[in-house]
Amino acid sequence: MSLLHTVQLAPADPILGLTEAFLKDPRMDKVNLGVGVYLDETGKVPLLRCVRAAEERLEKQASPHGYLGIVGLPTYVHATRSLVFGADAPVLERVASVQALGGTGALKVGADLLQQLSPDARVLISTPSWENHRALFARAGFDVQGYRYYSPELKGIDVDGMIEDLQAAEEGTVVVLHACCHNPTGYDLQPADWDRVIAAVTERKLVTFLDMAYQGFGFGIEEDRAVIDRFVDAGLEFFLATSFSKSFSLYGERIGALHVVSPDAETARNVLSQLKICIRTNYSNPAKQGAALVAEVLGDAELRQMWEEELAGMRERIKRLRSQLVEGLRAEGIDDMDFIAEQLGMFSYSGLTRDQMVALRTDHAIYGTDAGRMCVAALNSGNVAQVARAIAAVRSPLLSH
Ligand code: LMR
Repeated sequence: MSLLHTVQLAPADPILGLTEAFLKDPRMDKVNLGVGVYLDETGKVPLLRCVRAAEERLEKQASPHGYLGIVGLPTYVHATRSLVFGADAPVLERVASVQALGGTGALKVGADLLQQLSPDARVLISTPSWENHRALFARAGFDVQGYRYYSPELKGIDVDGMIEDLQAAEEGTVVVLHACCHNPTGYDLQPADWDRVIAAVTERKLVTFLDMAYQGFGFGIEEDRAVIDRFVDAGLEFFLATSFSKSFSLYGERIGALHVVSPDAETARNVLSQLKICIRTNYSNPAKQGAALVAEVLGDAELRQMWEEELAGMRERIKRLRSQLVEGLRAEGIDDMDFIAEQLGMFSYSGLTRDQMVALRTDHAIYGTDAGRMCVAALNSGNVAQVARAIAAVRSPLLSH
């Protein structure tokens, strides 16, 4: 009997599996709103001008391809720390930071360390959350449960429910929070809500894991990291996963970082030594190109300025696309989806049912997740009316036939 005969066929990934299906779809007018990727007006992943300029500089330097150290490229790690915590922030002396393979890699390295430190802890994620949060923490060995977050009745966040759930959690429970641009809903906590969350986390002695994959897509680079300062100011220890996939349009470079805010510098040094073991035993050390590009841009005043403008351009364009989608839906007679314009980040949580999302895919070649999430950042002026028409059709199937 072959060992491999026991292997079951796994379901496709709820997000990346959609891209696989999309690529196989022969229909010419197909639209992929499944994965969280920003596309430009021509439907392509943009190569940012700042990244291109950094590439040209690196090409000229033509350095050999030696190994990076286990924690990554030092100039990159330094730059990403400043970006997230503020340049020269006093807290930095007690933060352990490592380069990671995108935000997902940062989450996994952090999850592995948490599993080593606290194997019986429960992990709480928002209901709903990014599809991979549950799978990733479960795979790392945790029991994963949800805390209340989005309420369809409120068409927004059930803050009271969320706080109740945090207050009911056992000491040591790991709580995964989205720092900005909540994925999938696009609804973020208000500053006063964050104060309540921080109070609950402090009182119940919970362990916070912040996921910040969309810094700069909410209100701006500084504005979006304000929540990090709140946790620092509250004197909490916490984990923070960040990513440059979206903000630098460097999806394929798998470039992110993990920061662990520790109680003091000595503890941070110990934490870093353990993170290094997690990395070494998984993939030894990270890749160089994405880190070199980000470091080059963030370390140069002119390129950094260019990046901030390009990031602001993406953020503003997504807002316009939201308005265009709302207008398109109104033109189709749908006037109860204006909330799309209020949501933040790349996604819209449409409120469509699983059946409607399947119909969008099957009948209209428009791909979004079964949970009703659509990547607004993948719309353009050439497909927004088509998407609005298709949404109207799946919402009123009788009228459209
Ligand atoms: C998403 O949520 O679509 C992105 O973060 C891509 C991914 O890895 O799922």
